[in-house]
Amino acid sequence: MRFVPALAAAEIGPGRMKRVDLEGRRLLLAHVEGCFYAVDDTCTHEDASLSRGVLRGEWVKCPLHGSRFNVRTGEVAEEPAEVNLRTYPVKVEGGQVYVGLE
Ligand code: FES
Repeated sequence: MRFVPALAAAEIGPGRMKRVDLEGRRLLLAHVEGCFYAVDDTCTHEDASLSRGVLRGEWVKCPLHGSRFNVRTGEVAEEPAEVNLRTYPVKVEGGQVYVGLE
Protein backbone atom coordinates (compact mmCIF):
# COMPACT_ATOMS: atom_id res chain seq x y z
CA MET A 1 0.00 0.00 0.00
CA ARG A 2 1.38 3.38 -1.03
CA PHE A 3 -0.02 6.53 0.54
CA VAL A 4 -0.21 9.27 -2.09
CA PRO A 5 -0.65 12.97 -1.20
CA ALA A 6 -4.13 14.07 -2.31
CA LEU A 7 -4.63 17.60 -1.00
CA ALA A 8 -4.22 19.84 2.03
CA ALA A 9 -6.72 19.05 4.77
CA ALA A 10 -7.64 22.75 4.90
CA GLU A 11 -8.99 22.50 1.33
CA ILE A 12 -12.05 20.55 2.51
CA GLY A 13 -14.01 22.16 5.31
CA PRO A 14 -16.15 20.13 7.73
CA GLY A 15 -19.17 18.60 6.02
CA ARG A 16 -17.70 19.26 2.56
CA MET A 17 -16.42 16.97 -0.18
CA LYS A 18 -14.19 17.32 -3.20
CA ARG A 19 -13.24 15.31 -6.26
CA VAL A 20 -9.54 14.53 -6.58
CA ASP A 21 -7.91 12.88 -9.58
CA LEU A 22 -5.09 10.69 -8.35
CA GLU A 23 -2.95 8.48 -10.57
CA GLY A 24 -5.76 7.98 -13.07
CA ARG A 25 -8.47 7.39 -10.44
CA ARG A 26 -11.37 9.75 -9.85
CA LEU A 27 -11.80 9.87 -6.09
CA LEU A 28 -14.21 11.61 -3.78
CA LEU A 29 -12.74 12.93 -0.53
CA ALA A 30 -15.15 13.83 2.22
CA HIS A 31 -14.61 15.56 5.56
CA VAL A 32 -17.10 14.26 8.13
CA GLU A 33 -16.93 15.05 11.84
CA GLY A 34 -13.17 15.52 11.90
CA CYS A 35 -12.34 12.50 9.74
CA PHE A 36 -11.50 12.25 6.07
CA TYR A 37 -12.80 9.47 3.84
CA ALA A 38 -12.02 8.47 0.25
CA VAL A 39 -14.26 6.53 -2.12
CA ASP A 40 -14.57 6.27 -5.90
CA ASP A 41 -16.15 9.45 -7.26
CA THR A 42 -18.05 7.67 -10.03
CA CYS A 43 -21.47 6.30 -9.10
CA THR A 44 -21.77 2.52 -9.45
CA HIS A 45 -25.04 2.92 -11.38
CA GLU A 46 -24.00 5.14 -14.28
CA ASP A 47 -21.27 7.62 -15.06
CA ALA A 48 -22.15 10.38 -12.61
CA SER A 49 -19.69 12.29 -10.45
CA LEU A 50 -20.77 11.99 -6.83
CA SER A 51 -18.84 15.16 -5.98
CA ARG A 52 -21.66 17.01 -7.78
CA GLY A 53 -24.19 15.48 -5.42
CA VAL A 54 -25.10 16.36 -1.85
CA LEU A 55 -23.26 15.28 1.31
CA ARG A 56 -25.37 14.88 4.45
CA GLY A 57 -23.52 13.45 7.42
CA GLU A 58 -21.60 10.48 6.03
CA TRP A 59 -24.01 9.92 3.13
CA VAL A 60 -23.55 11.29 -0.37
CA LYS A 61 -26.51 11.45 -2.73
CA CYS A 62 -25.90 10.88 -6.43
CA PRO A 63 -26.89 13.92 -8.52
CA LEU A 64 -28.31 11.80 -11.35
CA HIS A 65 -30.80 9.29 -9.91
CA GLY A 66 -30.52 9.83 -6.18
CA SER A 67 -28.81 6.68 -4.88
CA ARG A 68 -27.11 7.29 -1.54
CA PHE A 69 -23.71 5.95 -0.55
CA ASN A 70 -21.90 5.93 2.78
CA VAL A 71 -18.53 7.66 2.33
CA ARG A 72 -17.08 5.80 5.32
CA THR A 73 -18.04 2.24 4.32
CA GLY A 74 -18.96 2.59 0.64
CA GLU A 75 -22.34 0.98 1.37
CA VAL A 76 -25.17 1.79 -1.04
CA ALA A 77 -28.49 2.52 0.66
CA GLU A 78 -30.88 3.34 -2.14
CA GLU A 79 -31.60 2.05 -5.64
CA PRO A 80 -31.14 2.27 -8.56
CA ALA A 81 -27.44 1.67 -7.71
CA GLU A 82 -26.90 -1.81 -6.24
CA VAL A 83 -23.13 -2.03 -5.95
CA ASN A 84 -21.17 -0.51 -3.08
CA LEU A 85 -18.50 2.09 -3.72
CA ARG A 86 -14.86 1.16 -3.38
CA THR A 87 -13.26 2.73 -0.33
CA TYR A 88 -9.63 3.74 0.17
CA PRO A 89 -7.61 4.13 3.38
CA VAL A 90 -6.84 7.72 4.34
CA LYS A 91 -4.33 9.25 6.69
CA VAL A 92 -3.60 12.85 7.60
CA GLU A 93 -0.08 13.96 8.42
CA GLY A 94 1.26 17.48 8.75
CA GLY A 95 -1.99 18.96 7.43
CA GLN A 96 -1.83 16.82 4.29
CA VAL A 97 -4.40 14.17 3.33
CA TYR A 98 -2.95 10.97 1.89
CA VAL A 99 -4.90 8.22 0.15
CA GLY A 100 -3.71 4.62 0.14
CA LEU A 101 -3.46 3.09 -3.34
CA GLU A 102 -2.34 -0.40 -4.22
S1 FES B 1 -25.96 7.49 -11.88
FE1 FES B 1 -25.98 7.48 -9.70
S2 FES B 1 -27.91 6.64 -9.20
FE2 FES B 1 -27.88 6.64 -11.36
